Amino acid sequence: MGEAVVKVENLTYSYPRRENVLVNVSFEVKKGEVLGIIGPNGAGKSTLCKALNGLVPHFYGGRIGGKVVVAGMDTMKHTVAELSTKVGLVFQDPEDQMSGLALTVYEEVAFGLMMLGFPREEIDARVRDAIKKVGLGGLEGRSPFELSGGQMQRLAIATVLAIKPEILVLDEPTAQLDPIGKFEVFSVIKKLAEEGSTIVVVEHEIEELATFADNILLLDEGRVRAYGSAREVLEKVDQLRKYGVDPPSVTELTYILNKEVGTDFEIPITIEEAYKIYAEALGVS
Ligand SMILES: Nc1ncnc2c1ncn2[C@@H]1O[C@H](COP(=O)(O)OP(=O)(O)OP(=O)(O)O)[C@@H](O)[C@H]1O
Ligand SMILES: [Mg+2]
Repeated sequence: MGEAVVKVENLTYSYPRRENVLVNVSFEVKKGEVLGIIGPNGAGKSTLCKALNGLVPHFYGGRIGGKVVVAGMDTMKHTVAELSTKVGLVFQDPEDQMSGLALTVYEEVAFGLMMLGFPREEIDARVRDAIKKVGLGGLEGRSPFELSGGQMQRLAIATVLAIKPEILVLDEPTAQLDPIGKFEVFSVIKKLAEEGSTIVVVEHEIEELATFADNILLLDEGRVRAYGSAREVLEKVDQLRKYGVDPPSVTELTYILNKEVGTDFEIPITIEEAYKIYAEALGVS
């Protein structure tokens, strides 16, 4: 992993009608890193996402303190238009990401590129590449509104990928989806992560997040309550519970066994790890 492409230093923010939604938030994301953001409802997770592409404060107003630098750009000194070519934000509800003007999947992905004034051949190459990356090949001619939830969210991700942002920010991208849709979208995120994309993702599906996040930041009442490697944050079961986050089941089970039964298992954060630890203990590995 390379240099920091996101640097947030003592970020404090108040909406015009709500004080201290973020308080002294600091973290960084290195090139190729996946940072997971977790925390209860109202913690400020979406606000933090919007601070990464400048919607906070440029669009929402309010008061901001501290510093946010993305892809070398101080968000206070650049417009949302400039920032949005570097930071691609995908919303929770894929319909919010649709232009409402495109008749086909192809046109929807091309739309943003056309607005940015790219030449036709460049648009075509980028659209095909983005559609392939999210596994929607073959559906180029389909209407965006005839897609399943998982397909539409993957289309939303493609519209952002086509811009080739340096940082991909996903705000609860699977929250609106059924289990199949969730699986499809997680598959795409994992593949992007493996290919070295820099990703910030807000996610409630902690078991999934544990399988691909490098670092995790736990936000609560606008404050960073925990920040570190996925393992460091997720193995602290009591701390997660205190802030209303369910730990991965295998983590919790092992934690309880160690505490109540007196076993001394390593704490797993994924099912794969749990399998290894328990198979070894049972002598069946
Ligand atoms: N435009 C706004 N004006 C005033 N207050 C807002 C605005 N948007 C959000 N808030 C408030 O800021 C706080 C943080 O909201 P935010 O949406 O960032 O939280 P969140 O962690 O994303 O929550 P959720 O898990 O429900 O998505 C909440 O108390 C919310 O009511
Ligand atoms: Mg939110």
